[in-house]
Amino acid sequence: MQLKTTHVFILGYLCLAFYCLCTADKFYNRGNHEWTKLFMVQHWPTTVCKEIENDCRDPPNYWTIHGLWPDKAGECNRSWHFNLDEIKDLLPDMRHFWPDVIHPSPNRSQFWKHEWEKHGTCAAQLDALNSQKKYFGKCLEFYKNLDLNSMLLKLGIEPSVQYYQIVDIKNALTSVYGVVPKIQCLPPEQEEEVQTLGQIEFCFTKDLHLRNCTEPGVYSPFLQDALLTDETSMSHGLSVCEDGPVFYPPPEKTYH
Ligand SMILES: *[C@@H]1O[C@H](CO)[C@@H](O)[C@H](O)[C@H]1NC(C)=O
Ligand SMILES: *[C@@H]1O[C@H](CO)[C@@H](O)[C@H](O)[C@H]1NC(C)=O
Ligand SMILES: *[C@@H]1O[C@H](CO)[C@@H](O)[C@H](O)[C@H]1NC(C)=O
Repeated sequence: MQLKTTHVFILGYLCLAFYCLCTADKFYNRGNHEWTKLFMVQHWPTTVCKEIENDCRDPPNYWTIHGLWPDKAGECNRSWHFNLDEIKDLLPDMRHFWPDVIHPSPNRSQFWKHEWEKHGTCAAQLDALNSQKKYFGKCLEFYKNLDLNSMLLKLGIEPSVQYYQIVDIKNALTSVYGVVPKIQCLPPEQEEEVQTLGQIEFCFTKDLHLRNCTEPGVYSPFLQDALLTDETSMSHGLSVCEDGPVFYPPPEKTYH
């Protein structure tokens, strides 16, 4: 009888120990900032403005940078603060190619601060991206090399009131770049509407080579980056485009 009770106790402790180990592992992983690829994200300003109820003034009529995001990691170093001085040399390019579409003041750097703190501090694990100058500089370099604006024009994919098929856009881009991009849309607000093209993302390996974005079954909350750094604004949110028709909206002169 005595023996049996002891056994039960030992078994109980073993279970408890095992449970703790598993929980600890989960806990540890939450703080683990391992990532495997980078998303170089560009967005279509007209759609960005539509996403926030058209509350923009004269958005750029070309694709601009949203960010450079490691998958599976965010806010890796909260004590590494954004410092505009470090990217002084890049500012002319930053303002043109990486503008804050929603708050377009030339001196406002909140958007870059957000991108650095959320994504840059994780990307900085790579030597090639381990400073703010390198991180923003490399992303500008990717942007220029990808040259998405010219490429879309060459492919005959222009903003239009006629709809495109997602598969056509995807195949065209894949044929040019040799890798499968990720394409994000603003879902239709009403049933009779179609989705709106919002964001095109190219993936890079940790060696900074282009790679396919496709990788089934991987979901990361860090890739649902809120465009809006202030929570007060409305956002319907982008998601991966559905197969079928898509609206690539022509820029409008003025919103408001
Ligand atoms: C976080 O960033 C600060 C400032 O650059 C640096 O001194 C520190 O070593 C970093 N911490 C880690 C864990 O990388
Ligand atoms: C932006 O900052 C520069 C330098 O600090 C200043 O000279 C300029 O007036 C500012 N522009 C605006 C629109 O606030
Ligand atoms: C990338 O995707 C394309 C199209 O699905 C495929 O043909 C190619 O083999 C993929 N490349 C790699 C490296 O997985």
